[in-house]
Amino acid sequence: MTSVRIENLSKTFGEVRAVDGIDLDIPDGKFVCLLGPSGCGKTTLLRLIAGLEAESGGRILVDGQDQAGIPAHKRDFGMVFQSLALFPHLSVAENIAYPLKIRGTGAEERRKRATELLDLVQLPHIEDRAISQLSGGQRQRVAIARGLAIDPKLFLLDEPLSALDAKLREHMQIELRQLQQKLQVTTIVVTHDQREAMTMADIVIVMDRGKVQQAGPPIDIYRRPANSFVADFIGTTNLIPCTVKDGRSIDVLGHEVTLGEEDVINPDVNGSAILSVRPEDVAVTERAGDHTVPGEVAFIRDLGANVEISVRARDLEIRSVCTPKRRPDVAVGQTVGLEFHTGRCTVMAS
Ligand SMILES: Nc1ncnc2c1ncn2[C@@H]1O[C@H](COP(=O)(O)OP(=O)(O)OP(=O)(O)O)[C@@H](O)[C@H]1O
Ligand SMILES: [Mg+2]
Repeated sequence: MTSVRIENLSKTFGEVRAVDGIDLDIPDGKFVCLLGPSGCGKTTLLRLIAGLEAESGGRILVDGQDQAGIPAHKRDFGMVFQSLALFPHLSVAENIAYPLKIRGTGAEERRKRATELLDLVQLPHIEDRAISQLSGGQRQRVAIARGLAIDPKLFLLDEPLSALDAKLREHMQIELRQLQQKLQVTTIVVTHDQREAMTMADIVIVMDRGKVQQAGPPIDIYRRPANSFVADFIGTTNLIPCTVKDGRSIDVLGHEVTLGEEDVINPDVNGSAILSVRPEDVAVTERAGDHTVPGEVAFIRDLGANVEISVRARDLEIRSVCTPKRRPDVAVGQTVGLEFHTGRCTVMAS
C-alpha cells in the first residue's frame, strides 16, 4: 500500500522555477504518467519524489509520512533512469541484484531474485550474459527488473522507453502496464509522448512550465480538456475561435452551432472563446451548404487505416479524419463544407 500526496511543492534552480507550487494525490496501486513538453519540470518532480533533489518549498508525503530529510536510499523506491545506467562490467544478474547487494542480501538469495525478475520481464536464462551482449529492448527490461529488485514501495521511471524504436516501444508500453497490474505497485512514469501516457496510465498528469495543467484518467482529459494547452497536447485537435451566445449556442466562423448536453463549456468561459473539436468530429462534405462552414481542401493524406483532410477556412487550417469507407469524394483545391459533430466538443477560455 503506497499513496503519495504532494503539497505546494516547488523547486527553483536560480531564476528557473522548475516545479512551481504543485499539489497532487496519487492513490495506492495506480499507474501515473507525468506528461508535458521538454523543460516543463517532469524529471525534476520525479527526482524530488525520489529524494534525489531537495525541495525549495512544500511537502511530499508517502503513506502520510513526510519525506523531508529521508535520503533517497532509505525511501525504498525503485528507479529506472532514461540512460538506464546499467553497469557494463557486471553481468545481467549482478546488475539486477545490485540494489540487494547494497542492502547486504546474500549471494544465493540475490541470484534467486535475479532469476525470478528475469522471468517476470520475460528474459529467462540470460543471468550470466554481459550487458554489451543485449539488444536495446533487453537492456530496457534488465533496467526495469533492477528497479523492481527491492520490491519497491514506489516505482519511478524517467522516459524509460525513449531509446527504443516505435514498434518495440509500443510493445514495451503494453508489457510495462501489464507488469504493473500484476504487481500492483504504485508507479510514476515520465514521458513526453501522449500516446504512451494514454496507453499505460490510470492517471495522466499534464504539466507545463512547472505547473499541473490537468490531472485525471486519460479519456477524461481527452474528452474534457481544461484549457487549450491540454487540448492540443493530448491527441490532435482543432482550436477554433468562437463566440458564446446565449445558453449553448456558439458562433464558429460565421456559422451557428448548438451544443448538446455532452459538450463541455468550461466554467471560465465568457464571450470570446475557443472551440476544441477533434478531427474525428469534423466531417467534410462535397459541397458547401447552408449548414456547413465553407473552405478549400489544402491537403489530403491517406494513411491506409484512415484518411486525413486539411481544409482552409478563413485563415485557419482545420483537420478532419475519417475511415477510407467514409472518405468524401473531394480533391485538393475544391470548395467543400465543414460540419462539426457536437457531443464531444469543448469550449474553453481564449
Ligand atoms: N540541475 C539543474 N540546474 C539548473 N537548472 C535545471 C536543473 N535541472 C533542471 N533544470 C531546469 O529546470 C527546468 C525543468 O527541467 P526538467 O529536467 O525537470 O524538465 P523535463 O520536463 O524533464 O524536460 P525533458 O522532457 O527535456 O526531459 C528546465 O528549465 C531545466 O533547464
Ligand atoms: Mg526530463
